[in-house]
Amino acid sequence: MPDMWRKTLILYLTLLSTTAWAELDTDLSTVLITGSNRGIGLEFVRQYAELNWNVIATVRKPDEVEALNKLALEHGNIVIEQLDVTDFDRIDALAEQYKEQRIDVLLSNAALTPRYKSAFKRVSGMDFDTARLSFEINALAPLKLADAFMDNVAASEYKKIVVLTSKAASFEVGPKMPMMYSYRGSKAALNMFMYTLSFETAKRGVTVTLLSPGLVNTTPGMENPNASSPEQSVTAMMTVIDNLTMENNGQFVNYEDGAVIGW
Ligand SMILES: NC(=O)c1ccc[n+]([C@@H]2O[C@H](COP(=O)([O-])OP(=O)(O)OC[C@H]3O[C@@H](n4cnc5c(N)ncnc54)[C@H](OP(=O)(O)O)[C@@H]3O)[C@@H](O)[C@H]2O)c1
Repeated sequence: MPDMWRKTLILYLTLLSTTAWAELDTDLSTVLITGSNRGIGLEFVRQYAELNWNVIATVRKPDEVEALNKLALEHGNIVIEQLDVTDFDRIDALAEQYKEQRIDVLLSNAALTPRYKSAFKRVSGMDFDTARLSFEINALAPLKLADAFMDNVAASEYKKIVVLTSKAASFEVGPKMPMMYSYRGSKAALNMFMYTLSFETAKRGVTVTLLSPGLVNTTPGMENPNASSPEQSVTAMMTVIDNLTMENNGQFVNYEDGAVIGW
């Protein structure tokens, strides 16, 4: 397809899906997912849409989300919204736009994952600008999102905030070697933020849970034979999410069986 036609089609599909927000079916359960354009986020969108949930799928660049647009065409219950999670004004604007919308599951998935050049370097090769950005995207943004959408979650039936984290950030089970400083540090901060938040959410009947997706093949062109596919990991995580109760408030749990992971 010529490039100009392709861009026009993408723009049309984006407009089609973003104007549908007011038409979310009030009888359906609703999930809001950040970082919905690829990897684990995109697979969450696919599986929740197939379960017939309303899906508010947020992405940084709505004009570059071909796979998500295709899903939105197949499922009328997907709405695409622009959101760079470091833009807190935009988070507030979205919360205002959706203030009447119950959100059963708020799924913080977006992250700066360790694919940048310096990720596996020792401390002397660390990129401190990337470290600051990792903290902003991976730790502060999920906390801001939780605060902004807390009323929506508290008003819903399932009342769950689920935040994707990583075993790499665990003192107990993380790799005992010097690597991924920015990623591990930011996810460890995230874990503490959510643990601390759980003392507030308890009072509102909201469960906040940190979830490890395991090792998942999400880097295009790089297949790790020991990793799950996004489909396998997300299928397992959705069962875990479905079974979360207030007992899991403030816990860090595993994707396969919901077993508690040590900090
Ligand atoms: N894959 C694994 O093995 C693994 C293991 C442990 C934990 N996790 C966690 O699982 C989650 C998903 O992982 P993944 O492998 O699917 O990651 P990924 O393939 O690297 O995708 C990251 C997603 O986050 C989005 N994102 C990055 N910065 C953003 C920002 N500032 N604002 C909004 N969105 C932003 C990306 O959007 P763009 O396309 O616009 O960049 C993309 O949609 C992450 O929280 C990750 O830490 C993954």
